[in-house]
Amino acid sequence: MAVRPICITGEPVLHSPAAEVEVIDDDVRALVADMFDTMEAAPGVGLAAPQIGVDARIFVYDWTDDDAVHWRGVAINPELLVSPPPVEEADEELDSEGCLSVPGERFPLVRSARAVLRAIDLEGEPYEIDAVGWLARIFQHENDHLDGVLYVDRLEHPHRKAAQKAIRKQSWGSPGRSWMPGVDNLEG
Ligand code: NI
Repeated sequence: MAVRPICITGEPVLHSPAAEVEVIDDDVRALVADMFDTMEAAPGVGLAAPQIGVDARIFVYDWTDDDAVHWRGVAINPELLVSPPPVEEADEELDSEGCLSVPGERFPLVRSARAVLRAIDLEGEPYEIDAVGWLARIFQHENDHLDGVLYVDRLEHPHRKAAQKAIRKQSWGSPGRSWMPGVDNLEG
């Protein structure tokens, strides 16, 4: 198990749809273990395989909700059913979202309040989670990664402009950028 470098926006693997997982073998199990290590080291509440440069439809998540329920798992070849997103302005605080592939930045984005995740686990068993609130947001964010979509791609004016400016300022948005959790300090 190992912490792996996290790709930053501009890396092509982040911007194209990922491939279905055909078979759950030792390579996939090792990848998922590294994904959990990397997510914990970052730290983050979710991580998708393309974020560590791997073209595969897999994400992991680890989040404790307000009722102290610990949600931790791996979603392989997930499908997501979402309720229609509310038509409203993004709230600067309540809708503030971040991404390990746009490190150190946060921008508000309206998401659907409910999402039903259908996926398979590392044993190849199908499961379903009916998620609301922040867990539904995590699932939408991570599932988007598997379709080559970053949350900054979904931002509305004026947050979209602010995100583009921040990305330009960091000289991101071109291939070859990554950061190492526990080594690089990307705050501020
Ligand atoms: Ni992300």
